[in-house]
Amino acid sequence: MIYHDAIVVGGGLAGLRAAIELNRHNVKVAVISKVHPIRSHSVAAQGGINAPLGNHPRGVYDTCEKHAFDTVKGSDYLADQDAVIRMTKEAAERIYEMEHWGCPFSRTSEGKIAQRPFGGAGFPRTCYAADKTGHALLHTLYQQTIRFKQSAERNEIVIYEEWLVTDLVVEEGVCVGVIALDIVSGRLEAFQAGAVIFATGGAGRMYGSSTNALINTGMGMAVPYWAGVALKDMEFIQFHPTTLLGKNILITEGCRGEGGFLLNNKGERFLAKYNDSQKDMEVAPRDIIARNIKREIMAGGGFDNSYVHLDLRHLGEEKIVQRLPGIRDICMEFAGVDPVTAPIPIQPGQHYTMGGIDCNTECETAAKGLYAAGEAACVSVHGANRLGGNSLLDTIVFGAIAGGNAAKYVQSLGSRKGEGVISDALKHAEQRIEGLCKSEGKEIPADIKASLNKVMDNKVGIFREASTLQEALDEVRDLQGRYKRIKLNYHGKRANLSLVWTLELKGDLDVAEAVIAGALAREESRGSHFRTDFPKRDDAGWLKHTIAYFTPEGARLDCKPVNIGPFEPKERKY
Ligand code: FUM
Repeated sequence: MIYHDAIVVGGGLAGLRAAIELNRHNVKVAVISKVHPIRSHSVAAQGGINAPLGNHPRGVYDTCEKHAFDTVKGSDYLADQDAVIRMTKEAAERIYEMEHWGCPFSRTSEGKIAQRPFGGAGFPRTCYAADKTGHALLHTLYQQTIRFKQSAERNEIVIYEEWLVTDLVVEEGVCVGVIALDIVSGRLEAFQAGAVIFATGGAGRMYGSSTNALINTGMGMAVPYWAGVALKDMEFIQFHPTTLLGKNILITEGCRGEGGFLLNNKGERFLAKYNDSQKDMEVAPRDIIARNIKREIMAGGGFDNSYVHLDLRHLGEEKIVQRLPGIRDICMEFAGVDPVTAPIPIQPGQHYTMGGIDCNTECETAAKGLYAAGEAACVSVHGANRLGGNSLLDTIVFGAIAGGNAAKYVQSLGSRKGEGVISDALKHAEQRIEGLCKSEGKEIPADIKASLNKVMDNKVGIFREASTLQEALDEVRDLQGRYKRIKLNYHGKRANLSLVWTLELKGDLDVAEAVIAGALAREESRGSHFRTDFPKRDDAGWLKHTIAYFTPEGARLDCKPVNIGPFEPKERKY
């Protein structure tokens, strides 16, 4: 059995930041990641990271209180306000830390970190590195991880690359370790640890039309869920307004922050027609713009009934090349369109899971010694709708908090615990995988995944209603049944990606079921969750978090109060 004082599951921004914090506290830490850390999906983040630095001429009066207010209002008042205030208070410190670690942020003419306007923000507060902010941040953190890994005066950071965590081991409410599959050798291994942090990212690939990397499956949330840890607010799925037609690659909000226009098939800036977007137009919050693009298409204002245009031509070649070079490359490579000379065909697509592993502002879950951070977690700072630029901030603020708290917890522990239960969990995992490999069933995992993607795209999208949500739930339950009769097309041990995808598919199905159960239960419209049969927000009935517990019969739902602070829930006007 392998032992580390602390294990971080996930090698993206939240995971690496947590590992650095543990290392700073001299805790021996291991990162277990399904991919090499710099292939984590954080690398794909484009437009920026929010902090009220006041570097933009129109942002000099920005403060953390104003950032907190915008975040709570953007969340449709479902975010926990203590958590939001903590995040916005720590924002500047975390950004300057990244700067001092070498993150190549874009600069103002005076050499300060440049900031651009983003949706739902009262001031331009989104710091950026052109349109490759995630890449710049992730490489910076990875470099620091390597630096500390090799430093003589600190304890080790071990990185297990290409390992899939299959089980979380909890004994009498205390987390004692994980079971993980070394994808390359096919060996299952038991890991004992004083503390475990889940920072596995989002679960976007339950959907087919998604900006997420294919690695973003439900598995990261499902593993703690199966072990008895609740998921929170799973019904809140963010649809990014601007993804490239057909491919759904992210076309950053930075395009609109820099002045891009959304146009219908008559060349009109159609957001002016809708009450909730006519004031802020292209920099209204994402949930509002995504809905209004859909409405415009449904009303006949789209092209081929499926997309509208994002026009950057008026920004000019110099600005596009300097601020949005990645977007230009993506459009040219994947759509044959040069945004300098032609509008970009875009449509909304799944982008982010606001819900996740239920934890508090200290990133603590209900299982002692288990912490969660980043998109896998629901602290909750994003509530019913996340503002663009707040997810990268969430990763580094709560990654550091999770790491610091896990370090203190580990240092307070006496003897190592859980050997017996971890050994049993290893045996069960081995039997489960052997069972999958020997299964005589007929069902092809890829067919089940394709069906799941179709159900989620078509029935659990931007507009929802009871009848189609119920159909979606029935269909997902049917797919869960088919999963029991699965057949693998390859049974070898080494690099068996067929096995990896099949294991992850179970996570996709169970997490999707929790999303739909939450969406059916929440009979109101709030943030990203719009019920055509309940089109109004209902603070009297639904100003609360949904909590989902795994049971073999399906998600069991409960509720939890929202932590209201200084910002009284009001109608959200933009
Ligand atoms: O549009 C974007 O660049 C995405 C940013 C975000 O999701 O925070």
